[in-house]
Amino acid sequence: MTTTDATASSTRAAAATALRTVDANIASFGTRYPADTTTDDRYPLRPARADLPDTAPGANYGWTTSFWPGQLWLAHELTGDDRYRDAAQAHVASYARRVHGGVDLDTHDLGFLYTLSCVTAWRRTGSVEARDAALAAADALMLRFLEPAGIIQAWGDLADPAQRGRTIIDSLMNMPLLRWATAETGDPRYATAADRHTAALRDHILRADDTTFHTFYWDAVTGSPLRGATEQGYSDGSCWARGQAWGIFGFALAARETGDGTFLDAALRCADYFLAHLPADHVVYWDLVLTDGSGAARDSSSAAIAACGLDELARLLPGDVGDRYRAAAASMIDSLAAGYAPAGGEPGDPLLLHGVYDMPKSVGVDEGNLWGDYYYLEALTRRLVPGWESPWWVAPAPGAVR
Ligand code: GLY
Repeated sequence: MTTTDATASSTRAAAATALRTVDANIASFGTRYPADTTTDDRYPLRPARADLPDTAPGANYGWTTSFWPGQLWLAHELTGDDRYRDAAQAHVASYARRVHGGVDLDTHDLGFLYTLSCVTAWRRTGSVEARDAALAAADALMLRFLEPAGIIQAWGDLADPAQRGRTIIDSLMNMPLLRWATAETGDPRYATAADRHTAALRDHILRADDTTFHTFYWDAVTGSPLRGATEQGYSDGSCWARGQAWGIFGFALAARETGDGTFLDAALRCADYFLAHLPADHVVYWDLVLTDGSGAARDSSSAAIAACGLDELARLLPGDVGDRYRAAAASMIDSLAAGYAPAGGEPGDPLLLHGVYDMPKSVGVDEGNLWGDYYYLEALTRRLVPGWESPWWVAPAPGAVR
């Protein structure tokens, strides 16, 4: 067996393990949603909330629910089995109710939520309900675009003084919904907002030493950039690992869609810093200030996101330069598969262990999480399905059939 054959076979084995868990979770979750993270390595259903129209456990609220139907769409891509398509499509009604009913929409994460659940459903099945819901979500996201700063507010009610004018690096992954809305409707406002927001983050959230702030505040009245701060990182001046991973992926996607070399440069700077701060096993600690010997917790989800982002970046670069980033992504995926993926196959299992959601608040520490699972499966899909079309893309890949 050649090295390439061995790699393909171990990647297929990793995907088969992940799919056994997806199968167990279809049986256990149905169209309900697991919690953001596992508790003792098992997902409970999302806790019930009395303030929502759906007061049962497993209701659709929060920022992470779409990573579950997102996994189902990936399972369909990997296997062609219509069972997965049907299971994924069954979630569209919940997202339509959520956006049309105004349930928990005070967040920039509408991009994560509606790209994976509804834009993908529209593309794969032509569901008009899904298209309408995704466009309504893009409109809700546009309400958060603040002039004159030209940024999208990340969290909370727009009138909340503590959140007013604040954005975060993660928001880059919400821009594909806006770019899709422009492509779908012909209205340039959405993509223009995405371009301005991405440029503001390039100029202020990415620091001169190629690290990133997790969050950054603008003066909502004058539009002046104010200051960076962390929320989930080690300190305001440190480099939160997942934020840097979002930066690699988000700036690379923006470069792909716009052809803007400054976004490509931003993605490269995020990537090179990330790669220069890897531990020996290629799976980062939760903040890049933490190194081998620190005894700190890993964040497997950062590695999974970075692997996808590095693959995206590699596609924008010439041959051997791109190959370097592709190889770095492969090392991370192999390490995740070998040391971080459980045997799985039981209801409530995650696809990846050892993530950190929010260390400063002690939430989801050394647990699986839904986004880590999703991006791990996306990373495996990128490797296994030649010509796979990413849900984050708007412009078709060269030679792709849509
Ligand atoms: N987007 C939230 C997080 O990465 O924790």
